[in-house]
Amino acid sequence: MKVILDCDPGVDDALAIMFLIAEKVKLEAITTVAGNHEVDKTSYNALRILDVLGEDRVPVYRGSKGPLTRSLVTAEHIHGSDGLGDSNLPPPKRKVEKEDASEFLARFVDENTDKVHLIATGPLTNIAKAFRYRPWIVKKIESFTIMGGCFFLTPFGYGNVTKLSEFNFFTDPEATYYVFKSGTKPNVVGLDITQDPGVAITDQIFGILEGVAKRIVEKPFRKLGIFHLHDPIAVASFIYPDIFKFKLFNVSISLYDGDERGMCIVDRRGIYSPNANIAYKVNRREFLLKFLKAISKV
Ligand code: RIB
Ligand code: CA
Repeated sequence: MKVILDCDPGVDDALAIMFLIAEKVKLEAITTVAGNHEVDKTSYNALRILDVLGEDRVPVYRGSKGPLTRSLVTAEHIHGSDGLGDSNLPPPKRKVEKEDASEFLARFVDENTDKVHLIATGPLTNIAKAFRYRPWIVKKIESFTIMGGCFFLTPFGYGNVTKLSEFNFFTDPEATYYVFKSGTKPNVVGLDITQDPGVAITDQIFGILEGVAKRIVEKPFRKLGIFHLHDPIAVASFIYPDIFKFKLFNVSISLYDGDERGMCIVDRRGIYSPNANIAYKVNRREFLLKFLKAISKV
């Protein structure tokens, strides 16, 4: 199984990397994108987290400095000035690879005999570029897991940037629009699931956290009083799909500005052919047990 993670570390992206490695998911590569922070920082953070995990064989490819057409607005106010909760983890021993992330993604998927599992936990800029470079590679995507969007399917499915829009899709609506039109039919875990306090770091959970996870979560947790595990929940849907429930919908992405920027518009009447599998339920207890057990090893 060949797995590539495209991400914008970011505290929850880092926890997702820890979760994947602890669960022995063999990552072929990590590609990084601007989102939570500038791409130099998200790349530096991916290298640092891999070092901490002793995973210095996973290559990191640096990607897009910003969205396809919009200007970048980071989430530094949540993830800290270093992007990892100002946790001062040691500097990385390695550097990023020379090849651009989108070019790597397109080439790797195209040249590989077996199909590739793609996981994206940041804005979809790199993925959209890769699909543009070599459009035929969409046929070689075995599974495509995305953290992003809000679909108003649960009481938690409202926006976290505007009333209507989630950060990853808000950051690059054009890339998101292109990915949802690509025919890859992604499995999408949105805020409907990840904004549920039942699967977040709350006082009780924070009290049992240790090691690197506690170190990177502490500052945002104390600032917000809760820390949502957006990206670990998304990767959990790849590792443990049976604890989730998904439903196929046709979803279009708003390219307007303001509140609607990056908004997901769901066809609930089932008139249009589905283009995405949207998560609407998770077994909270099972997720927390699996996640906390996995990261306690680091
Ligand atoms: O809206 C939450 C998402 O945006 C998460 O992936 C977080 O890391 C940020 O990228
Ligand atoms: Ca992310």
